Amino acid sequence: MSTVQSQSPYHFLIRRVHSLLGLLPIGVFLTFHLLLNLTARSGPAAYDRVIETMRHFPGIIVVELVVIFIPITLHAVYGAWVVYTGQSNVLRYGYARNWFYILQRISGLYTVIFILVHVSALRFGQANFAALQHFVANPWGLAFYAVGIVLAVFHFMNGLWAFAITWGLTIGPRSQKIWSYVCGFLFVVMSVVGLADLSAFLR
Ligand code: HEM
Repeated sequence: MSTVQSQSPYHFLIRRVHSLLGLLPIGVFLTFHLLLNLTARSGPAAYDRVIETMRHFPGIIVVELVVIFIPITLHAVYGAWVVYTGQSNVLRYGYARNWFYILQRISGLYTVIFILVHVSALRFGQANFAALQHFVANPWGLAFYAVGIVLAVFHFMNGLWAFAITWGLTIGPRSQKIWSYVCGFLFVVMSVVGLADLSAFLR
């Protein structure tokens, strides 16, 4: 079992970069994305207007590459390696958090599939209200999206709990417990926002 102390400086740095990318920019983007999608609740015209505005934003492709695609790819590739090699971090996951440890990995893997389907269908296909509405009209499509949103949010919030330990922000058991309540609360809020986005397409 590898611990932070036994890792080479090089490996230690990679883990730090992986951790940082999870919050900045990926986690911040996920939050922004879920909040922006609330415009779907105002109807197809409002939603499609926002999408069109973003698509024609000057330099959008560079912003997408630097802020979204490259960080997610790097985080996902190293994350998949962590899952494959079964690395664990005893500093982050004690016995009681074993389920969270496993769920963090399952949610990471599901998120890879979810992002690939979501991006290929919407970013490279037709990106508008009608396309998403069509996708989630199928019960399997709806379930795929609902599970994807909740698991991505879980991954982010459970990751945020671990992140605070990685960066020495929550050192003792008391601060870790308080932080777990905060992350749990944020998980509920963000899941509700995400599912509210999704429900807008069920009309
Ligand atoms: C919505 C996209 C994602 C967000 C917001 C996100 C965010 C995070 C955060 C904040 C952490 C905690 C970092 C730390 O422990 O200090 C983390 C850890 C992790 N992520 Fe992600 N992530 C995302 C996608 C993915 C994907 C696609 C994978 C691919 C398998 C993945 C695999 C992992 C793994 C395995 C860990 C745990 C690393 C460890 O325990 O050492 N993540 N993620």
